[in-house]
Amino acid sequence: MNDRRAYAPGRLNLIGEHTDYNLGYALPIALQFGTTVTFRADPESTVLTAVSDSEDGRVDIGLDTSPGAVEGWGAYLAGCVWALREAGHTTPGGRLEITSTVPVGSGLSSSAALECAVLLALTADHDLPRHELARLAQRAENDYVGAPTGLLDQLASLFGEPDNALLIDFRSLDVTPVPIPFDQSVRILVIDSRAPHRHAAGEYAARRASCEAAAAHLGLPSLREATPDAWRELPEGTEKRRARHILTENARVLAAVDALRGADLVQLGRLMNESHTSMRDDFEITTDHIDLIVETASELGALGARMTGGGFGGSVVALCSADDARRITADLPAMIERAGHPTPTIRDVRPGAGAHLL
Ligand code: GLA
Repeated sequence: MNDRRAYAPGRLNLIGEHTDYNLGYALPIALQFGTTVTFRADPESTVLTAVSDSEDGRVDIGLDTSPGAVEGWGAYLAGCVWALREAGHTTPGGRLEITSTVPVGSGLSSSAALECAVLLALTADHDLPRHELARLAQRAENDYVGAPTGLLDQLASLFGEPDNALLIDFRSLDVTPVPIPFDQSVRILVIDSRAPHRHAAGEYAARRASCEAAAAHLGLPSLREATPDAWRELPEGTEKRRARHILTENARVLAAVDALRGADLVQLGRLMNESHTSMRDDFEITTDHIDLIVETASELGALGARMTGGGFGGSVVALCSADDARRITADLPAMIERAGHPTPTIRDVRPGAGAHLL
């Protein structure tokens, strides 16, 4: 049997954080680096053996696996096998070889890149719709790995388009490409704090629970049904601030799309800055270290800078001119190091293609 090879990219969210499980909007890009999976099927085998160049050890996954059987990075793979089986798709055993250029723990969704590449390789002969692959990956993550995440990472990885951001509506699941005006010498920098994010560790689930409680308090199935000002009706406290982040963030995503379409990069930068403030003060998912990187990028001239991803570490995305990109890349790492933090790494990125068979 021939090898099946699939590639899926990591993602970078430009704006729209924690809006996915609230059925709101986000504006991510697929990155130009990702995970490649080579699958050699062995119809005689009832086990999938996975080896990875970026994770320790080899993992053996029984085709009859169920939640709890595999832990660590192998759980993402086992979760895919389990989700496929639950959905009525059979997978042969065999060998999976995994190589990845997405840094783990940087908030660029190495996990979604892995899930999407594995699912594409395992289902290469079935040609499943992309939305179904996204849901299978989410099921793996929610119900096998145990992280109650939304669909942002998987949809970005599966629907990426070169030089386009993706407006995602998480109620309809429509994905609309929005061109980024790179002809205006705009640059997108990803500044990896090198402080690993840990959203599986309870804080992410707590944010989700607060948002659901806020919607219930308003008598609505989700915050998507709320009017932009509905947070004002909630009693003072945590739920009110969480809801204010989500409702203002949804509005910022739509305004960011208008700004991109009008090539108004100053306005886009302003919205990114406001998003960061909202994540820091209302959603409380940033850290002093991440806030310092954002402030330093702004001081060095960024049009906008904000934490990207689930929070509590990971990466900052900065929008800047070519000159400011040079200054930030040259000066920011040492400034952060002098404040006693790990030296950040900086990448100049452009949107890349979505997941595909090779
Ligand atoms: C993580 C989750 C996503 C999304 C983001 C926050 O990346 O996996 O589903 O909720 O955090 O926007």
